[in-house]
Amino acid sequence: MSTQVTTPTPDLRADVWSRKDLTAIEPLSVGELTTLLDTAAAFKTVGTREIKKVPALRGQTMVNFFVEPSTRTRVSFELAAHRLSADVINMSASSSSLTKGETLKDTALNLQALHADIIVLRHSSAGAAQFLAERLQASVINAGDGAHEHPTQALLDTFTIREKLGRIAGIHVVIIGDIRFSRVARSNIQALTKLGARVTLVGPPTLVPREFEHLGVAVTHDLDAVLPDADVVNLLRIQHERQRKEYFPSLGEYTALFGLTKARAEKLKAEALIMHPGPINRGVEIDSDLADSGRSVILDQVTNGLAVRMAVLFLCAGARHD
Ligand code: CP
Repeated sequence: MSTQVTTPTPDLRADVWSRKDLTAIEPLSVGELTTLLDTAAAFKTVGTREIKKVPALRGQTMVNFFVEPSTRTRVSFELAAHRLSADVINMSASSSSLTKGETLKDTALNLQALHADIIVLRHSSAGAAQFLAERLQASVINAGDGAHEHPTQALLDTFTIREKLGRIAGIHVVIIGDIRFSRVARSNIQALTKLGARVTLVGPPTLVPREFEHLGVAVTHDLDAVLPDADVVNLLRIQHERQRKEYFPSLGEYTALFGLTKARAEKLKAEALIMHPGPINRGVEIDSDLADSGRSVILDQVTNGLAVRMAVLFLCAGARHD
């Protein structure tokens, strides 16, 4: 007899969630965001039990389809699906018939014909997950689409802030770096402002244009001026794969002006959190020792990604099937 069914699924507030897909943070209500974070907290508790598996997605199949590289997101979605008792298929672009010219839509329809219930998609094109969500009965979860959104990253970031500081509302989050090309920044801005945080974007004018102010955030190009007032600094990766030379002339100049060095970290409040979505460019966005210091919650973010992704899969696919 299987032991996993004896571990109950947490008491979840699925009553306020009716979406089959999660493609962006932008359309979510405060209630939906709170439900996601509360559900993740319940699943984090499950992770401390002796039996860490729940039967919520038993009999369902999740396809983890990553057209761009990933470590954290891909592995944590796979682990989350296993913890929820789903079957998991991992697919990459290079091993799929996309290389033979098959369209994304046809690939996804074929996966659905093979009874995929959930498709987790990372893709270089903004809108790819939403495109599939509108054409499939299967749940579609956006694991990062171009420079558009990375919703589960924003959820694990806000979850970590709430866990460490006890609240989101009123917290001042400073997001530093390559905002123009960052799906992480776009999703974080949506989640944090909806939940009542104050957000300041910092970086060179080419990567942090004033147009972002219409999202209800502050924009500055002076990192040293904002550090003393920050409760959280979130350092974004310089995305060399999406960069253009005219936006980003020199790594050395970037680090000199916007890297979190030890000297700059001295300006932070003692309790301020240092975050980074990963992968880190050590010595560029952040001093290597700081990344490994007690002030850094970078690996806590990764750990929390598991509970957050369990919550997303459960709410989109598990609750619907119940
Ligand atoms: N933060 C993030 O998306 O990391 P991966 O690219 O490793 O998934």
